[in-house]
Amino acid sequence: MSAFGPYITKIRSAASSAELDALELEIFSRKHGVLTVAMKDMGSLPPSEKISRGQELNRWKHDLTEALAWRRKELSSLVMGELASGDKLDVTLELPPQESGHLHPIPEFIRQVEEVFGRMGFEIAEGPEVESEQFNFNDLNIPESHPARDAQDTFWLAGYESENDPSRRLLLRTHTSNVQIRYMKTRKPPMRIICPGRVYRKDSDATHSPMFHQFEGLMVGAGVSLANMKAVMMSAIRELIAPDIDFRFRTGFFPFVEPGLEMDLRWRGDENESREGRWMEVAGCGMTHPNVLRNCGIDPDKWQGFAFGFGVERMIMIKLQIPDLRSLYRGDLRFLRQF
Ligand code: PHE
Repeated sequence: MSAFGPYITKIRSAASSAELDALELEIFSRKHGVLTVAMKDMGSLPPSEKISRGQELNRWKHDLTEALAWRRKELSSLVMGELASGDKLDVTLELPPQESGHLHPIPEFIRQVEEVFGRMGFEIAEGPEVESEQFNFNDLNIPESHPARDAQDTFWLAGYESENDPSRRLLLRTHTSNVQIRYMKTRKPPMRIICPGRVYRKDSDATHSPMFHQFEGLMVGAGVSLANMKAVMMSAIRELIAPDIDFRFRTGFFPFVEPGLEMDLRWRGDENESREGRWMEVAGCGMTHPNVLRNCGIDPDKWQGFAFGFGVERMIMIKLQIPDLRSLYRGDLRFLRQF
């Protein structure tokens, strides 16, 4: 009935929001919009017609505005629907690889060690890397003549020769067994500790590094036995490396244990690659020597203990099948990203 009816039809059939924009301008633009112009023209009408024309135009304004808003909504949901139908969700599709970082294998392994032994009731203990001869050797019943004291193996700190007191002769600890001493001297049994940390020896090849990591274990209590030690070590390596890991105990000598044992794990790398008959030593262990208990003020007639010291890098070599332990220190991301 009016000039505006066809606009409603046009709006309803508009195919895009750009088309709607154009129609909106055509109708409502401030200077030339058809409705704007019709409103202006109203001024020249006789007052009797003005009112009804005004009401009529207002209704159109309302209807047109509403039609525009509706069509806009319709169009956008149409667009969404099209997107959704052309872009079906494939839940089996692999996501693009995400760059997320992870810990280096050494701290990662030490975390696992702390967790596994923590569950067996072992407390984490730490000691200094710069240690005295007293705690690194003497209190561990390591006699002056022991080859571990040889200047070939130990990094001594400058000025050690001029000191006579072994508690003032400083070195880089050669093992984590110093923590046993420090702990036993200040606590009373029963005790169960695990002591991860860095140690230093003058050694370097595919299975040795001048700085490496160990974790020491110590348990002292009434009636603690070698069987307890084996059970603890076995259940730990099964959890830390693999449930079916092959291991063996051999007798070994360490002045601070009696009897002393060494634990080997079977190398799980390439079948064709022989490494020391495919057995690799990963730990020294044994029953704490009575002299060591005495040195720490613990009565060996009342208390027994066992101790072990594992080499972290060697366990990682076996777990991750790394042929050369030095690759753990090179910081080469192509290597580290494999784990
Ligand atoms: N401290 C010894 C080493 O570094 C390992 C060890 C620890 C042996 C505890 C026996 C008991 O070789």
